[in-house]
Amino acid sequence: MKPFLKWPGNKYRIIQHISKVLPEGKRLVEPFVGSGSVFLNTTFPNYFIAEKNADLINLYENLRNHGKDFIDFSKEIFNPKYNTQNKYYKNRKLFNTINDLELKAALFIYLNRHGYNGLCRYNMNGEYNVPYGFYKSPYFPYKEMLYFHERLQKVVIKCWDYRKTLQYTRKGDVVYCDPPYVPLSKTANFTQYGPFGFDKFDQIELAERAQSLSKRGVKVVISNHRTDFILNLYSAAKITNLSVQRNISCQGHTRNRVKEVLAVFSG
Ligand SMILES: C[S@@+](CC[C@H](N)C(=O)[O-])C[C@H]1O[C@@H](n2cnc3c(N)ncnc32)[C@H](O)[C@@H]1O
Repeated sequence: MKPFLKWPGNKYRIIQHISKVLPEGKRLVEPFVGSGSVFLNTTFPNYFIAEKNADLINLYENLRNHGKDFIDFSKEIFNPKYNTQNKYYKNRKLFNTINDLELKAALFIYLNRHGYNGLCRYNMNGEYNVPYGFYKSPYFPYKEMLYFHERLQKVVIKCWDYRKTLQYTRKGDVVYCDPPYVPLSKTANFTQYGPFGFDKFDQIELAERAQSLSKRGVKVVISNHRTDFILNLYSAAKITNLSVQRNISCQGHTRNRVKEVLAVFSG
């Protein structure tokens, strides 16, 4: 099943490659869950999903707790009368100022489907600032949301930095880490998912933690671009190479093949 959100770097297209390298285990831990393509398309007995983007976790909590009522409520904002540039910027402003968490969650879906190219970007003040996308009739992902709601019922969800999530793993867990990609070149930007970044030192720390967890019986798989920096960082892991077709986010319709790796740290 496709995730109900458009999400930069989502792994829906390569899920079969990921499933092949994921070891078996009683629980899958996803510290960078994003739109949940791996969570949705695997069958572990238990799941622990987490993310640093608080708007995303607020949305998942509303969907888990209020199901169909929340889906119907969110659908109302997908009325064509709200699909104008003017209404989009009004709704974006509302999203950035309201305290009502259910409406904020519904607006997050609206912004995701009406904003430019499914981007998720915030300014330095933590305000969502993706421009209007000019889509004729944005799709409302009813069945995808209903399925996500059902899958969320027995899942632990946390709005945590990945370091905290990793601290809560235990022997026998399988951890799938999908951090923001390292840039492919010195001039490329890091993809942003919130008013926080993920730099070179975060990547180094993640690889070090993966290695030490694997020595304690926690198997860790990490996705990333295949660059010299990453190959060096993941030298203790078993590497699977992939060539993935991807939309380049800053040039909406350009498609490119990009080299990626799946690194398995298993002690
Ligand atoms: C490449 S995306 C994950 C995509 C996901 N696998 C999917 O299929 O949709 C990376 C995610 O990591 C989250 N993130 C960034 N920094 C983080 C951190 N320090 N701790 C936890 N999550 C973080 C971002 O908000 C983003 O959703």
